[in-house]
Amino acid sequence: MSDVTFHNAARAGQLDEDEAMQVIIEGKEVAIINLGGEIYAMDDICSHAYASMSDGYIEGDCIECPLHGAQFNIKTGKAETPPATVDLATYEVKIEGDDIMVGLPNG
Ligand code: FES
Repeated sequence: MSDVTFHNAARAGQLDEDEAMQVIIEGKEVAIINLGGEIYAMDDICSHAYASMSDGYIEGDCIECPLHGAQFNIKTGKAETPPATVDLATYEVKIEGDDIMVGLPNG
């Protein structure tokens, strides 16, 4: 039924509140973000140029790209401020015990 497969991405204890980290899942760079104690996952590579969003800064519900400062909504992936105009994909997250599981689309 499910069109996503969950992958063990990190341990919950690896990520403090309002921190982000990059994980590689199936060869794909994914940013795992702890926003106020809730864990979110989104594409780690900025849609504007090549920068790792997990090296950016969390501002409210957004994460700011470290290279040119575009902000993306952490919950929706929406590109909120220029220079980025293309949204980032977000992924489902499940917590199983101490494991952060990220759901990537199949196929
Ligand atoms: S690379 Fe992210 S805003 Fe330019």
